[in-house]
Amino acid sequence: MTDAPHRTVTLTDDATGKKWTFPILDGSMGPSVIDTRKLYSGTDFFAHDPGFTSTSSCESKITFIDGDKGILLHRGYPIDELANKSDFLEVAQLLQTGELPNAAEKREWNKNITMHTMVHEQLIRFYSGFRRDAHPMAVMVGVVGALSAFYHDSIDINDARQREIASHRLIAKIPTLAAMAFKYSAGQPFVYPQNHLTYAENFLHMCFSVPAEPYKVNPVLAHAMNKIFILHADHEQNASTSTVRLASSSGANPFACIAAGIACLWGPAHGGANEAVLRMLMSIGSKDKIPEIVKRAKDKDDTFRLMGFGHRVYKNYDPRAKVMQQTCREVLDELGIKNDPLLETAMELERIALQDDYFIQKKLYPNVDFYSGIILRAMGFPMSMFTVLFAVARTAGWVAHWQEQLNDPERKIGRPRQLYTGATTRAFVPVEQRE
Ligand code: SDX
Repeated sequence: MTDAPHRTVTLTDDATGKKWTFPILDGSMGPSVIDTRKLYSGTDFFAHDPGFTSTSSCESKITFIDGDKGILLHRGYPIDELANKSDFLEVAQLLQTGELPNAAEKREWNKNITMHTMVHEQLIRFYSGFRRDAHPMAVMVGVVGALSAFYHDSIDINDARQREIASHRLIAKIPTLAAMAFKYSAGQPFVYPQNHLTYAENFLHMCFSVPAEPYKVNPVLAHAMNKIFILHADHEQNASTSTVRLASSSGANPFACIAAGIACLWGPAHGGANEAVLRMLMSIGSKDKIPEIVKRAKDKDDTFRLMGFGHRVYKNYDPRAKVMQQTCREVLDELGIKNDPLLETAMELERIALQDDYFIQKKLYPNVDFYSGIILRAMGFPMSMFTVLFAVARTAGWVAHWQEQLNDPERKIGRPRQLYTGATTRAFVPVEQRE
C-alpha cells in the first residue's frame, strides 16, 4: 500500500443516523479499497458480496489487471511482451521473485527446476490405480495431492528453505505428472524428462515421444507451447488462485494447496472452459448454426452460455486471447492445416457476437479459452488434456501467490461469514410426535 494521505469513507445507518468511518487504502495501480476489516466489530454488520464481485481479498504485487482497458501485467510487464519475448521458466521466476533475472540468476533458477523434473518412481504405481478412461484432471487432483506423501522434507511451511524446495518441486514436476496422465490415458509408456530440453520442449517430448521411434520436437510447436504456458501462468485472484490462498491460510502443505487449486480450475466456468469451447465449436458444426447458438446464449431462460466468452474482470478483449489467436494461426500454418473448420467457426462466432447488442451491452468478449482449444487439438492433445495444460502453467502463479500469502505478516485463516436466512431457533420434536 502507498503512504497516501489518510482518506476515509463514512457509512450512515439511515434508520438510526449512526455513522461509521473507514480508511481508504490506495494501491500503486487500479482501484483503491475501503478497509472494512473493522466493519463487523464496529457496526455488527457483515459486508455481503457473494462471488466477491466487489471484494479485495488480499494485497498482492504479482499481477495487475485493468479489465476495462484489457491490460494484464505480471510484476509490471505486459503479457504480450512476456509471451513474445520471454520463456515460461523466466516468467515463472519473475512471478516468484518480482524481477526479471540476470543471466546468472536465470541459470541458477533453471538448474534448480531442472534438477526436480523427475518424480518418485513409486508414484508410477499410483497411476495404475486409475481406470484408463479417468479424466486426466481427476488423476492430477489425486496425484498432486499425494505428493505430500512422497516429499516430507518440503512440507513445513514455516521453513523458508522447505518452501523454496516445494516451489521448485511443484513447478518442475507438474509437467511430468501431466504428461504421465496423458500417456496413461493413451495406454502408452511414460516418458522420462530430458533435462537438456527447455520446459516446453520437455513437455512435448514427454507427451508425444514413443520408445519405438526417434522424436524431434517441432520448434514452432515448442514456441507455441511456451507462449501458451506464459499466457496461462497467472491471473490475479481468480477462483483457483483464491482457492490456493484459502487452503494455504489454514496452514495446509503446499502440495495439498495446489491440488485444491487444480480441483477448482477444473470447473467449466473457469479452466474447464477451454475443453467446453471446443465441444461447443464441434457441436455447432457449420457456420449457419451460429445464429441459433448466439440466440440460445442470449436467452435468460436457457442455461447455455457462449463458452470462451465473457469474464468477471475483462470488459474488453482479453489480451491473452489476442496472442492466442495469433499463435493459433502460427501453429495451423506450421502444420499445414488450411481453413480449419473449427477456427473458421470460432472466427465467425466472434464476428457475429461482437456485433450483437447483447454482447456489446454486457461487454462480453473472447477470453483466454476461446482459441486455446483449437491450437491444442491441432498439436495433438485430446480435449481432456486442455485443462491439465492450463493447470501446468498456472502452477507457477499458484506457487507465487502461496509464497506471497505465507510471507504476509498479517496473514490469517480465511473465514468468511454469511447472511443467514434459515430456520430460527426451535425445540427438537421426538419422531413419535411428528406428523
Ligand atoms: C477463466 O477469473 C479469471 O481470471 C479466470 C481466468 C484465469 O486466467 O484464471 O481468466 C480463466 O476462467 C476465463 C473464463 C472462462 N469461462 C468461460 O468462458 C465460461 C463462459 N463465461 C461465463 O460463464 C462468464 O462470463 C464467466 C463465468 C467467465 C464470468 O461470469 P460473471 O463474472 O459471474 O458474470 P455473470 O455471469 O454475472 O455475467 C454477466 C452477464 C449475465 O447476464 P445478466 O444476468 O446480467 O442478464 O453476462 C451474461 C450473464 O448471463 N454472460 C453471458 C456469458 N458470460 C456472461 N451470456 C452468454 N454467454 C456468456 N459466455
